[in-house]
Amino acid sequence: MILTDSVFRPQVTRSLSYTCLMLVLGIETSCDETGLALLDSDTGVLAQHLHSQVDMHVAYGGVVPELASRDHIRRVLPLLDKVLRDAARQLSDIDAIAVTAGPGLAGALLVGASIGHALGYALDRPVIDVHHLEGHLLSPMLSRPAPEFPFIALLVSGGHTQLMRVAECGVYELLGETLDDAAGEAFDKTAQLLGLGYPGGPAISRLAEFGSPGELKLPRPMLAQDNLDFSFSGLKTAVSVAVRRLGASNLCEQSRADIALEFVTAMVDVLAAKAIRALERTGSKTLVVAGGVGANQQLRTRLTSEVARRDARVFFPPLELCTDNGVMIALAGLAKMKRASPQNVNGLGFSVRPRWSLADSTA
Ligand code: KG4
Ligand code: ZN
Repeated sequence: MILTDSVFRPQVTRSLSYTCLMLVLGIETSCDETGLALLDSDTGVLAQHLHSQVDMHVAYGGVVPELASRDHIRRVLPLLDKVLRDAARQLSDIDAIAVTAGPGLAGALLVGASIGHALGYALDRPVIDVHHLEGHLLSPMLSRPAPEFPFIALLVSGGHTQLMRVAECGVYELLGETLDDAAGEAFDKTAQLLGLGYPGGPAISRLAEFGSPGELKLPRPMLAQDNLDFSFSGLKTAVSVAVRRLGASNLCEQSRADIALEFVTAMVDVLAAKAIRALERTGSKTLVVAGGVGANQQLRTRLTSEVARRDARVFFPPLELCTDNGVMIALAGLAKMKRASPQNVNGLGFSVRPRWSLADSTA
């Protein structure tokens, strides 16, 4: 892409009515996926592109932060070109830019944020700092039919496992969360123990399909505790013990599949039970599932049948929007603009927040 002088010349700040129709560019670079999307506030997603760094990190068994940042640098502008081309739009058509400002890997966040803020400055458009989890949380709004507020959200990603009461866009109450490993993290670590590589979630889920229930019984951590918190590090440790007991080096394919099945079942038992408990405690009839682990088919099937038995409904984001992407960031940016004009219009300074609580992000 060629950014001409005229594009870069700062202009008088265009005053935008934040309730008018607008085209929002979403930029996501918080971890190992570069996601860009153009979202029209009226017609929805015009174009989106995603580059996954899985192939680059697979040799290391996990994300290498410095490699991630460098790759984002290579990807963002070519992906921006692609979304503009697919949407048949130009840079100057963009009304606002939403960037993931945290939480995530500091260097990776800085790439998306610096490019987003530079574009905002050059185009004289507002830049909205988006909380990554708010993006996940709102992504089921793009499923049809979309859920209505208020609802209970089960956020299950690589870094977070939380139950949240969502009164409306921007009003989030934390009901419970993991005390140690996140659900996705437990999937990834367990996959490594089973020699499945990275990322573990999809690999374990596929392997589990060939498993059969047997003698192995893994714990259901904190299931019996009358609260909405989670803990998954013990589950991973129990897998490690089982693998050692069965003889790690000569574990046959069937044993690995059986362990995978029991692991996924234990995980789904706990996530589903606590999500249902959150519905019952709050009297809500709507559950929304978001984050990478929300792509898990076993979890989807279980929650669908559990909520149906309680005359409630469950909403999942479209599969392609479960994991990190630019669409959810554009969507959360649009929602944020509707409730408050961005503070940092055309400022030269910006910052990212590798650690950022969702409760602090709504101002
Ligand atoms: O939301 P996400 O893309 O990134 C974070 O914000 O963390 O979630 C990534 C996580 C990884 O831990 C990955 O193993 C897990 O989501 N994941 C899955 C599945 N697909 C991705 N876990 C279980 N089953 C899946 N099908
Ligand atoms: Zn994520």
